[in-house]
Amino acid sequence: MIGEKFIKESSIKIELKISSIKREKNIKPIKLVKPIPEDFFIKLITERRSVREYSEKPMSFEHLSFILYSASSVSGERMGIKLRTYPSAGAKYPIDIYVAVFNVENLEQGIYKYNDTKFQLELLAKGNYKKELYDISIQQDFVMQSAIMIILVARSLRSTYRYGERGIRYVLMDASYISSNIYLSSTYLNLGSCVIGSFADEAFKKFLNIKGDETFVVLAHTVGTIK
Ligand SMILES: Cc1cc2nc3c(=O)[nH]c(=O)nc-3n(C[C@H](O)[C@H](O)[C@H](O)COP(=O)(O)O)c2cc1C
Repeated sequence: MIGEKFIKESSIKIELKISSIKREKNIKPIKLVKPIPEDFFIKLITERRSVREYSEKPMSFEHLSFILYSASSVSGERMGIKLRTYPSAGAKYPIDIYVAVFNVENLEQGIYKYNDTKFQLELLAKGNYKKELYDISIQQDFVMQSAIMIILVARSLRSTYRYGERGIRYVLMDASYISSNIYLSSTYLNLGSCVIGSFADEAFKKFLNIKGDETFVVLAHTVGTIK
């Protein structure tokens, strides 16, 4: 089985007879073909920026749904495994997605768990938790202006039980792929988004009431309407 070989190579230091590449000297670099700037994908990827200023205009429920759909949703199936809109090592999908709603049309403020296989939000706690999340995010001002915060939580056992310590790398990568999807879908919708990696780890876990060393917040993302 292909998978078995992969696991062996990723968790065991195997000895291979490998010789190093011999680097050439004085070689002229080869210029690449620049894509046309009008290309839809190129425009999207070059226009993406971390946006830290948002207006008070609420985000629409459709836009929230669109971003979550892009971040992670079922986009295929292989051997009974539901595949998502982002790649995941061994299709383990070890990231749970939470959404703090502050300012979204037709949606109550609160902390929700996003169920990506059923494409639905599940309310965990009602209320406006913006101030708590601002404090947890080391009081970064833009959190106070944002319409939502998407929180990516690693459930690393889902990966490490299979890949050992190497699984931690994969968990972090998975979160980055989701983050890219959030950035690009926000750009596409003309919304502002910024990823947040600076936060108080233990306070975040306490706030979400998540426990255990294997479970931790990897990243958070603010999204809001642009001023
Ligand atoms: C892992 C990671 C953590 C980050 N954490 C923060 C953060 O806590 N606060 C913030 O304002 N920006 C944060 N950023 C955004 C970077 O500052 C930003 O991506 C970088 O300055 C490049 O700008 P650009 O995203 O507009 O291209 C983070 C980015 C990454 C990849």
